[in-house]
Amino acid sequence: MTHTKKIKNKINQLKAPLFQLFWENSKINDVTGIKLAQNIEADAAEIPLSPQLLYASLDYPLIQPKDRLAKTMQQRQSLRKFSKKSLSEKQLGSLFFAFSQLKDKRRLLASAGGKYPIEVFAITWNMASPALNKKILYYNVGKHALSILKDAPDWPDLKTFITPEAMDAPNILFFFVAFPERTCKKYAERGGRFVLIEAGHYAQNLSLRVAQEKLAGYELGSVHDDKILSLLGLEKTEAMLCLAYACGTQ
Ligand SMILES: Cc1cc2nc3c(=O)[nH]c(=O)nc-3n(C[C@H](O)[C@H](O)[C@H](O)COP(=O)(O)O)c2cc1C
Repeated sequence: MTHTKKIKNKINQLKAPLFQLFWENSKINDVTGIKLAQNIEADAAEIPLSPQLLYASLDYPLIQPKDRLAKTMQQRQSLRKFSKKSLSEKQLGSLFFAFSQLKDKRRLLASAGGKYPIEVFAITWNMASPALNKKILYYNVGKHALSILKDAPDWPDLKTFITPEAMDAPNILFFFVAFPERTCKKYAERGGRFVLIEAGHYAQNLSLRVAQEKLAGYELGSVHDDKILSLLGLEKTEAMLCLAYACGTQ
């Protein structure tokens, strides 16, 4: 059976075949990556427009909050330069706390139908703890613990899986990986939306922890899906790579 036929068969068996089809079509690989890099370059040459709606009504002014949460939210920004300082175990725990679960099993993140389709993996390069350095990790949400899966490739090798290539080596690269059947079994095609929305929650929560820790980081959407999934050992599963997040010391 050809690769395309295999994919079509797989898609037809699923609860949300159109979402799966959209997903296959939006993957980045060596071919689509070139097109994406060209689009990004063309976009950079354009004069940015103000991305908001403008109404000819009176603007009713709002009061700005001055609390601690507001301060952290204001500190969140995409920073792409990382220093050579290692990431401490305290900082690592603080970052993964973004996705954690309380004693009563309530999570810090909302999820449609409580199905929690997103799993968090990470690759490390510059950790204070030798046991966690240059490893591929899985976040065990039930225990707020890390499973060490295997050794990680060097950053120069890994960065070829990103288009356009990211420059600075982060201390850690997070991956939000969806297992869409958990959600689509209940919600069918609409579940596809929910899965993507939820990946965004994970990224936002993480970005606030990054700001709180005075670290640098940014969301990374342009990663080669299947290469990363293989690296994580997920190539034979229904896993979808939603988003990556590069994080490091300043
Ligand atoms: C879904 C998503 C994907 C993104 N992908 C990338 C990326 O591949 N590379 C990158 O440098 N920044 C990426 N960003 C970061 C945006 O460029 C950044 O959020 C935007 O410029 C606004 O800046 P700010 O985050 O500092 O407010 C991404 C952001 C989002 C939400």
